[in-house]
Amino acid sequence: MRCVVANWKMNLTKDEAQAFCEDLLGRMAPESEAEVGIAPPFTLLHQVSDLVRPRGLQVFGQNGHAEAKGAFTGEISMPQLRDAGCSGVLLGHSERRQFFGETDVALAKKVKAAWQWDLLPLLCIGETLEQRDAGQTLDVLAQQLAILAETGPGPLWVAYEPVWAIGTGRRAEAAQVREAHAFIRTELNRHLAGTEYRVPILYGGSVTPESFPELLGIPEVAGGLVGGASLDPRKFAELVKQAG
Ligand code: 13P
Repeated sequence: MRCVVANWKMNLTKDEAQAFCEDLLGRMAPESEAEVGIAPPFTLLHQVSDLVRPRGLQVFGQNGHAEAKGAFTGEISMPQLRDAGCSGVLLGHSERRQFFGETDVALAKKVKAAWQWDLLPLLCIGETLEQRDAGQTLDVLAQQLAILAETGPGPLWVAYEPVWAIGTGRRAEAAQVREAHAFIRTELNRHLAGTEYRVPILYGGSVTPESFPELLGIPEVAGGLVGGASLDPRKFAELVKQAG
């Protein structure tokens, strides 16, 4: 199974989202076997899910709180995401970790909450440039995946997104992606040994239609989590086609 997920981040308005979805769906072959997801901003969740779920696409929240409800101004809960049409939720995106102080402790709670509300967590992990230069990449990935010792097993997708490759146009090299994905697979096998869960590992960071075919050829790369290129329906449809 190959997966392509659009992370729109803090982009698009209602009219732009409408035009995007109509354009994308018009370009998508009905026989595509790729699992396709869109993670819009919260205000667009209802609208986007109404448009794309009938065609089999998944909708993801970009974040979700561990509590089901309460006095948490500015947050959104897992049942609210479900109510808005989501089947999954991005958790631990590096922008959340970097700019909003998201910790592994909080993420373990969020993964459990997602499961409780029947949402598929797409857990994002990855090292900063400083950590890579210091030779800490694999240690960082192991630590970010160690929350699975706390959560226990469950359905999960993982995205490897080296922070230095996000929005920079500097995609990780094939050898770096191969090493990271092989290591993540080993760690997942260890955490999920003896369970039925088989976790697809997506790559994210400056994915484009030009670079995606090579990435898809790397062992353990099950697809892509796409930022910039996912805002152009022509480019995103091309990525879906390459994955299908
Ligand atoms: P870019 O594709 O813009 O590098 O963003 C990647 C990303 O952060 C997806 O979650």
